[in-house]
Amino acid sequence: TAEGEELEAATFIVGTEPTFPPFEMTDESGAITGFDIELIKAIAEDQGFEVEIQSIGFDALIPAVQSGNIDIIASGMTITEAREEQVDFSAPYIDAGLAIAVAADNGDVSSIDDLQGLVASVQIGSTGHEKAQELMDAGVLSEVKTFNTVDVVMMELVNGGADVVINDLPVTQAYMVQQPGTIKIAGEKLESESYGFAVRSGNEELLTMIDTGLQNVIEDGTYDEIQSKYFS
Ligand code: ARG
Repeated sequence: TAEGEELEAATFIVGTEPTFPPFEMTDESGAITGFDIELIKAIAEDQGFEVEIQSIGFDALIPAVQSGNIDIIASGMTITEAREEQVDFSAPYIDAGLAIAVAADNGDVSSIDDLQGLVASVQIGSTGHEKAQELMDAGVLSEVKTFNTVDVVMMELVNGGADVVINDLPVTQAYMVQQPGTIKIAGEKLESESYGFAVRSGNEELLTMIDTGLQNVIEDGTYDEIQSKYFS
């Protein structure tokens, strides 16, 4: 390259909804961090691109990647058939799944069969929301309350405005550790889900970089390091 000139690395904008610890959250300094964020940064470093992290409502992430306002979704997003129609997903990078949470002193709900007539609290646009809507349409739940952020979803349960939360199991477990004695998990994991990073449909160049980088950070041990930091 010419004197004093450096090739500038491409910067991709990563969108995330950061009320989802340990996958994405805001630290004391206001910076967005978490498993997904460190993983996409490690992938970026491996592949020689820069990332800029942007906070976006969960239900606005897919439209944002479709319109080109962001390049990558890194937000604990479950790979689903319906979403595959709207965006392209990377290889799965971690397994999770949905679980039902109830107040710690709730003795009535011990499985999905005990939800008749109850009120659920969920994050808008999430797979937990979809599950709750199915249960509502089937005449099981009596109401589904939706909120933009998961902290408010949980608060609604703790304050008695809802009987159950349907949310990703690892996030509910993290909440139980943070706020002991407030809520508990009722029954088994409802379904298995895998998270993927998402890009605009047809953005093969970026998707290949993400998939290659993911493979590399798995092989060189970086993935394990990040995992043991957030899941101990
Ligand atoms: N895994 C669920 C889904 O894809 C919930 C993800 C919520 N993520 C977040 N960062 N709030 O719908």
